Amino acid sequence: MIVGVPRESYPGERRVALVPAVIPALAKAGLEVVIEAGAGAEAGYPDAQYVDKGAKVLPSRGDVFSAAEIIVQVLCYGSNDRTGRADVPLLRRGQALIGFLRPLGDVGTLQEIAATGAVSFSVELMPRITRAQSMDALSSMATICGYKAVLVASDKLPRIFPMLTTAAGTITPSRVLIIGAGVAGLQAIATARRLGAVVSAYDLRPVVKEQVQSLGGRFVELPIEAADAQDAGGYAKAQDESFYQRQRELLGKVVAESDVVIPTAVVPGKKSPVLVTKEMVAGMAPGSVIVDLAAERGGNCELTRAEEVVVVNGVTIVGTINLASTVPYHASQMYAKNLTNFLVHLVKDGKLQLNMDDEITRSTVVTYQGEVANPRVREFFNLPALAAAQ
Ligand SMILES: NC(=O)c1ccc[n+]([C@@H]2O[C@H](COP(=O)([O-])OP(=O)(O)OC[C@H]3O[C@@H](n4cnc5c(N)ncnc54)[C@H](O)[C@@H]3O)[C@@H](O)[C@H]2O)c1
Repeated sequence: MIVGVPRESYPGERRVALVPAVIPALAKAGLEVVIEAGAGAEAGYPDAQYVDKGAKVLPSRGDVFSAAEIIVQVLCYGSNDRTGRADVPLLRRGQALIGFLRPLGDVGTLQEIAATGAVSFSVELMPRITRAQSMDALSSMATICGYKAVLVASDKLPRIFPMLTTAAGTITPSRVLIIGAGVAGLQAIATARRLGAVVSAYDLRPVVKEQVQSLGGRFVELPIEAADAQDAGGYAKAQDESFYQRQRELLGKVVAESDVVIPTAVVPGKKSPVLVTKEMVAGMAPGSVIVDLAAERGGNCELTRAEEVVVVNGVTIVGTINLASTVPYHASQMYAKNLTNFLVHLVKDGKLQLNMDDEITRSTVVTYQGEVANPRVREFFNLPALAAAQ
């Protein structure tokens, strides 16, 4: 079977779906790789490295789509809401498409993909089970984003992070607050600690307290308890507005005392909760920085503007989306490894196996046989259950 890697077309996207190092493992599983010329260039992987590992370079995007039975991308149509639609006419019946599809985003987009007859797999829907951990692209990208968010914050902050005792006096360490200690938040804690900051973190899921402390962070305890804080997959559950209101009141003081705030609180398929209001921003010292990792989903800070950096009352609020793309070498390396494990799982004896009894396959298939076939996605969009999917 042939796996095709088109060049990412989302404006500014620098990642690539497969890196040269994974090609031998794919070959062992009976998968040949073709890439569009220059697909890895922005991530630091020139065409020659792919050729060295046994891949074929094709001159155009159209060539890759017509040669390959499986197309792998970082941002497929769906998550690529700018230029992704141009790929729809290139897809064909029976062809597989794997990547970020934003499956709880826009149902019309998914229906357009379904209408091509392609079988699409969303990496966002990877189940959080031990067996699928090595295929979990969301965690890989969150790791990169958590790390980079701290560097962006330190770059904007007019202070240094560590405590220094010098002949010119003592410099007090910067105080960093992480709101939401999931994969990105924990990586942000570790990175800020390595740079010498004093780090606090808060999460509505009390189970993360020990993880925060083991990284040298202080866990901020608020005297409110979330009802039913997390679902079976470990994701936070949406809370009612009165809970968020109370959270904001209690978080105000901690936010005001922080030089850097990095909120990462997202709830799958929902707009991100507002945890930092404009009043809270007004209470922060001038020069403080907020890097809002939830910017793409509306932001955790009321003043965040997606894709922009704004300064309000001297506080810099960074709403950059797609931070993982700014670390394209390692983001691509991790993503390629996740995809390779997924491909090896899906392909047996040179054929794509659509074994719906398997939890990984069943959870990640979004479109199949001309329909949006994923039961979770159908339920989310209030589409009637399909007989085959039941
Ligand atoms: N294979 C696996 O078992 C697996 C894989 C990845 C992650 N996980 C676990 O799943 C959990 C969620 O990770 P994630 O990074 O994907 O989460 P996420 O990106 O969905 O959310 C980020 C964090 O924000 C928190 N949050 C949401 N709303 C909040 C609010 N109102 N106030 C404060 N915090 C709020 C969440 O609890 C989460 O910790 C983690 O514990 C992680 O370790 C397990």
